[in-house]
Amino acid sequence: MHQVTLGMIGGGTVGSGVFHALQRNGDLLAARIGVRVKVQKVAVKAVDEPRPYRIPRAVMCTDWQRVVQDPQVNLVAELAGGTTVARTMILTALKLGKPVVTANKALLSAHGEELFAAARQYGTNLYYEASVCGGIPIIKALREGFVGNRITHLYGIVNGTCNYILTRMKCEGAEFADVLKDAQAQGYAEAEPSLDVDGFDAQHKIGILASLAHGFWVNPRDIYVEGIRALTRADIQFAGQLGYTIKLLGIIKRIEESPARTPRGRIPSARIQVSVYPALVPNAHVLASVNHVFNAAFVRGDIVGDTLFYGRGAGKDATASAVLSDLADAALDLKFGTPQRVPPFVPHERAGAVVPIAEVVTRYFVRLNVVDRPGVLAQISALLGAARIGISSVIQPESREGASVPLILMLHDAPSGAVTGALKKIGRLAAVRSAPVMIRVEDLC
Ligand code: HSE
Repeated sequence: MHQVTLGMIGGGTVGSGVFHALQRNGDLLAARIGVRVKVQKVAVKAVDEPRPYRIPRAVMCTDWQRVVQDPQVNLVAELAGGTTVARTMILTALKLGKPVVTANKALLSAHGEELFAAARQYGTNLYYEASVCGGIPIIKALREGFVGNRITHLYGIVNGTCNYILTRMKCEGAEFADVLKDAQAQGYAEAEPSLDVDGFDAQHKIGILASLAHGFWVNPRDIYVEGIRALTRADIQFAGQLGYTIKLLGIIKRIEESPARTPRGRIPSARIQVSVYPALVPNAHVLASVNHVFNAAFVRGDIVGDTLFYGRGAGKDATASAVLSDLADAALDLKFGTPQRVPPFVPHERAGAVVPIAEVVTRYFVRLNVVDRPGVLAQISALLGAARIGISSVIQPESREGASVPLILMLHDAPSGAVTGALKKIGRLAAVRSAPVMIRVEDLC
């Protein structure tokens, strides 16, 4: 049987997960694809560091160069993480003409364009299924399954930590800080939680998906990002009364259609929204039921219609499953000498642009803390009316006159910039006791 020789960099959670998965299902993989993947060497930080699955000492080393430069190694898996040395590792392997499998979303977000160009230049390939949504084969789905579709909408729950925290806040009526502390104690959230709870991990993933779906490289700086730190129990409960669940969504929406047939000589273009923010999702929508650490991606293509992908977005085994899928593709490409059979990223809408968040139109949930006295609602609705923003419903729990009360407004479709501007003015009214809270509503229809 044909054999490829794999050099792995990284023997921690993901690396040892891949090693273990290959031991467990390597025969099955070989039987299915007709190629055996043999692990030659694994570069680790320290041979004796704790890892979830055992790696024999004989295959470990502590110098990644020994793995990449080994003449027997013809396939490299970068599972070390980070954005500096990992970039050098991948570039070194690509320059040697060795295909690379990576799970590194932060690196692809920062340097994807350069790495994909290097793969093309050196006639090899870069595979990255494990970089987004762990075990969910979303990269393969976009790149291959939907190759004949324009992707008009993608809504993703792509960060398990945030989804876990929001699920518990909703189910237990708890505040963010208390759930985060408990999630950290139980190992569900990192000690330094910012990458997850401030939305940056989702930004990396949604940028990769947007680039792949729309065919121009989306600069992470153009992605509007809001995390979940500012959400309160009150927001979640009022949203619930209105029939919604709050989820951290990664959103990719085609705002302006390019013509179905591009006139000769015109560069294909698209204007798309690419954002990460907490949003009210109707309880009747399937994404509202994606709970705990699970991820999901709801994808609409112009030919296929609506599709849904669901699964574990992280963890040693789910990530290993995605890496094995890439190893299988890479092994087949090596066997048949088709290094760019499925190119990693093909620019096809080179004049595409990301729409600034101020221009993005959605509905809104607004929570104000106001003094209950005559004329307050009239002042607020006058400021919204002047900005041409309509109110679609109002909730104010009964209280005594003169007391502070929550005032919840649901607003009709409006550009984000107009709503932010009106809320700034509303926040300055004497009767408004704290900064207005604004959360977007995504009807997903
Ligand atoms: N920290 C991520 C999450 C998993 O919570 O989903 C790795 O991307």
